[in-house]
Amino acid sequence: MSETLVQTAPAAAVETGNGRGLLRFLTCGSVDDGKSTLIGRLLYDSKLIFEDQLASLERDSKRHGTTGDDIDLALLVDGLEAERQQGITIDVAYRFFTTPNRSFIVADTPGHEQYTRNMATGASNADLAVILIDARKGVLTQTRRHSYICSLLGVKHLVLAVNKIDLADYDQAVFDRIVADYMAFARTLGFETITPIPMSARFGDNVYTRSDKLPWFTGPTLIQHLEVIDVESTAAAKPFRFPVQWVNRPNLDFRGFSGTIASGVVRPGDKVVVAASGRETAIERIVTYDGDLAEARAGDAVTLTLKDEVDVARGDLLVPPAARPEVADQFAAHLLWMTDEPLLPGRSYLMRIGTQYSPVKVTALKHKIDVDTLEHLAGRTLALNEIGFCNFSTSTPIAFDPYNDNRETGAFILIDRYTNATVGAGMVSFGLRRAANIHRQSLLVGREERETLNGHKPAGLWFTGLSGSGKSTIANLVERELHDRGVRTFLLDGDNVRHGLNRDLGFSDADRVENVRRVGEVAKLFVEAGVVVLCSFISPFKAERRMARELFAEGEFIEVFVDTPIDDCIARDPKGLYAKALKGEIANFTGVSSPYERPEIAELVLETANTEASASARRVVDDLIRRGTI
Ligand code: ADX
Repeated sequence: MSETLVQTAPAAAVETGNGRGLLRFLTCGSVDDGKSTLIGRLLYDSKLIFEDQLASLERDSKRHGTTGDDIDLALLVDGLEAERQQGITIDVAYRFFTTPNRSFIVADTPGHEQYTRNMATGASNADLAVILIDARKGVLTQTRRHSYICSLLGVKHLVLAVNKIDLADYDQAVFDRIVADYMAFARTLGFETITPIPMSARFGDNVYTRSDKLPWFTGPTLIQHLEVIDVESTAAAKPFRFPVQWVNRPNLDFRGFSGTIASGVVRPGDKVVVAASGRETAIERIVTYDGDLAEARAGDAVTLTLKDEVDVARGDLLVPPAARPEVADQFAAHLLWMTDEPLLPGRSYLMRIGTQYSPVKVTALKHKIDVDTLEHLAGRTLALNEIGFCNFSTSTPIAFDPYNDNRETGAFILIDRYTNATVGAGMVSFGLRRAANIHRQSLLVGREERETLNGHKPAGLWFTGLSGSGKSTIANLVERELHDRGVRTFLLDGDNVRHGLNRDLGFSDADRVENVRRVGEVAKLFVEAGVVVLCSFISPFKAERRMARELFAEGEFIEVFVDTPIDDCIARDPKGLYAKALKGEIANFTGVSSPYERPEIAELVLETANTEASASARRVVDDLIRRGTI
């Protein structure tokens, strides 16, 4: 489903060679606007409906249709839709049809307003969008929403289909008013062409056949326009981009790089560089199963061999030296959120752009976009179907083009690192220069010297557990013992840090993520300073404990789960907070009205129900001795 956002449409290989080649388009509108009828009409009039489907359509139209004895074309599409809705994850259907002059793929997406993500998926690889307007209703909020999403997803050509013109008495004044309304709004959206056409999908007026009821309209019919429109700003005309999918090394004599050309054209002898490293070489051969090629272009799956033995790995992008993409680890992008769990800035997601993968965080949600009014709104998270403009930071630099220049190398998806589900889709706007001029300063005093001076190794002890579980009590005892043994220590405690560094944070999911992110970074600095740092935070989410863990070297992060049953915490209630939370006086209280995700991989689990705090502390110290830290 959403995967198609960064891939070409499933039927990409269908090129029939009749005239202008394939046109991909999508229709935007709700069922009420006649979207199903229009798609049905396009398929029906192209005579591509199978005989048996047609027979059952005629039967159904008589039984359930809303069009009397005529065939109800909407039933055709809705029937197919019902089928595919069985598999709830398939959100976009691609239908293929052809005329003597061109072949078409139309993306059909559910029209209901909450399906922004489905529409975006359909729009992401469309050359053109047909925006449907009901002549009786004119430009609606959803018309604006659909148009904005099309422009955001890089659709350059629009047809403004003023449908149901039969119900407006084929009146030119109605049409003219709608077109004027729409143009006033759409001017700012940057479309290259907008072609208004009055039509009646139900009766076929101006779809395939010119209507004699609309003599005042001198423009093309829908199909005429679709057959001739030139969308040749296509992928082949753009700079060469080759995302390496895998290194093809069947034997020691052959080393090729396989993948699908994302954009541009390539020939043997062309100079190329590896975008990330800047290493330059040239194309030697273009290898395919059917022999070598003299030229390959966007969409072709090929194996390239290079003149020199340069370092190229899966995920690298091969590009021409004179037209390089940006390479950065911070960038700004539009993000469409596609899942029920909200976006949490600061949380680590997996990003896939082309064949590159990197852990990524949203470092700032600059604004959300109200897709109905195009207003910018303040916000801290994105909910399902919301669109925001965000700053991102990746763990490794990635190569990309602005989405506006190249949809293939400027689109990315975000993946949840636990469930592997696609949770967001993004369109890169620009790299952030602020990071470009900051280089790491090498230090004269190194880690080993610090360790020698201290006489022990550093470590990060991460105590997690419910409020009142005993984390801070145990951490305090551990620190006392370590200090008495001459170990350099520091204790970072949730309540204390929230008085200073994190005093701007509350207890929403987003704030807890940020709390743990900052503490993780601070703890890392302490470890670099050679200190045994003890962190005592509820840190209720697996994802952020893992994020903290990933900041440290293997073996330096020790997760200590202070496992106290919630009932014991409530009974102890050292600060009286559970009593308040249970009365509803504290919102989002962990264990009461906010979740705690138990660790699965903690190095130490301390069950406190029947164990003295001092004994638990002893276990932690013993563990540090066993590891050779102290
Ligand atoms: S964390 O979830 O972001 O890791 P942290 O450990 O910093 O939390 O702070 C937890 C402490 O804040 C608790 O021990 C408690 O004293 C206090 N507190 C106040 N409100 C809440 C709340 N809604 N949920 C949990 N703890 C709270």
